Amino acid sequence: MRFPILTPEEAASYFFNDAKCGFSGFTAPGSPKVVTQAIAAKAEKLHAQGEQFKINIITGASTSDLCDGILARANAIGKRTPYQNHPDLRKRINSHDAHYFDLHLSEVAQKMRYGFFGDKLDLAIIEVSDIQDDGTVVVGTGVGNVPTVAKMADKIIIELNEKLRHALYGLHDIYLPLDPPNRGAIPIYKPSDRIGSPVLKLDPDKIVGVVMSDNYEGVKAFTPLDDTTKQIGANVCHFLISEMRAGRIPSSFLPLQSGVGNVANAVLYGLADAKEIPPFEMYTEVMQDAVIDLMKKGRCKFGSSCSLTVSNEVEDEVITNIEFFKQHLVLRPSEISNNPEVIRRLGIIAMNTALEADIFGNINSTHVTGTRMMNGIGGSGDFTRNAYIAIFSCPSITKEGKISNIVPMVSHVDHTEHSVDILVTDQGIADLRGLDPVERAHTIIDNCAHPMYRELLRDYLKISTRGGQTPHTLEASLAFHTEFLSSGDMSNVDWAKYTK
Ligand code: COA
Repeated sequence: MRFPILTPEEAASYFFNDAKCGFSGFTAPGSPKVVTQAIAAKAEKLHAQGEQFKINIITGASTSDLCDGILARANAIGKRTPYQNHPDLRKRINSHDAHYFDLHLSEVAQKMRYGFFGDKLDLAIIEVSDIQDDGTVVVGTGVGNVPTVAKMADKIIIELNEKLRHALYGLHDIYLPLDPPNRGAIPIYKPSDRIGSPVLKLDPDKIVGVVMSDNYEGVKAFTPLDDTTKQIGANVCHFLISEMRAGRIPSSFLPLQSGVGNVANAVLYGLADAKEIPPFEMYTEVMQDAVIDLMKKGRCKFGSSCSLTVSNEVEDEVITNIEFFKQHLVLRPSEISNNPEVIRRLGIIAMNTALEADIFGNINSTHVTGTRMMNGIGGSGDFTRNAYIAIFSCPSITKEGKISNIVPMVSHVDHTEHSVDILVTDQGIADLRGLDPVERAHTIIDNCAHPMYRELLRDYLKISTRGGQTPHTLEASLAFHTEFLSSGDMSNVDWAKYTK
């Protein structure tokens, strides 16, 4: 190989305090696994000597313990965007040790190119499964913002993952749109359309060296489905079938997007048994274990994604049977997998998860009790705002009923009532299309709220007597949350306090 092989420590020596860095990958797949460990060790050493050392990191989405986790524990992250889900980084963000800004994932690459976050990146780490002497690479199982990161970085360090070597050629469709005023149409008319290249050409003069790695992605297997998540999955499938019967979804079906997390996984498993739904396609940003299962069963015909976010066992199965999976899936950069133009054109049915929803249909996906960052908005906004039908789901209650996921007013808004068509909980389905705010409130309370909270929510509407299009008692609108923060149980809320 033309490029020098570096130890992780040699690669880490290029990183300096306040460096602007771009990493490949999208969720754990494709994100750096080795150099980041050496950067964390370097940070700890420098901190012990009283020196400042933090780097600023742009990724495709979340990463893994070997990246965000280890760097957060070493307090080595200055600024971070656009998405994360690691408990140790979450702690750093919520204590302001690390600055975090939360972006729609489809917009990250173009905002970088527009210069909104500075005119260049100092360094990039790019995981690849193959590299040629002219700098042509086959990237890993998570693409993220890799074409833009490569374009904007002064120096590139390659992590060559032996575990994936020679397996992935032909899996990717790498496409970099031109920027306005020169951008044309993104010519994807069905999820399986390929518009770019299976490889990415890097500038060989920017590559400072190659670090070897030999690891699968380490995605955690999902917690087994419980009765609540199974019921949510069944309710979503029931809704999709009734839409097909009503002729609002064509009998050939429409491509699905599915979000992240346990609930999203449960919905996908529900689709395996929903035989009235024909074999379908997906146009989505992450593919979890359930999709691979659906592909093997012939239920999912084709999937376009940015990342193969599967557990190690499933990844091993995919790599072993890679020729089969190359016929059924394609991995794209996030600005294409999440592209609003393509999502609107294909008529995507978007299925995402909420932390909480309010009785008017606004959704909080990111902030626990309005202040503590959970993960970030991810691609949920890209898909929801542009979907054919936008569905949100969540359990009706959390923490043994001490939290109602249906509240009078969300404590933080990620998706407004204008973008949300359908709300689903384990209790049932609220179809919000064509309803005014008061009609929406009754539909959500009757169909989605847990029985133990229904009367409290109805009473909230009764005390909201000031009138107006959207009835609220502003003093009481966040009382569920303040009650939870003071007594630990939302159901202790007492409206009498607000009606004197
Ligand atoms: N208030 C406080 N805590 C809440 C809560 C609420 N309303 N709702 C859930 N939680 C807690 C749960 O108790 C759980 O805590 P634990 O880890 O201590 O058990 C945690 O939040 C996660 O809840 P869970 O029901 O397991 O959620 P999930 O795994 O299905 O993930 C989101 C839900 C919203 C966090 C996740 O989907 C997400 O990050 N979404 C935003 C990004 C996105 O949608 N991307 C997809 C685009 S493709």
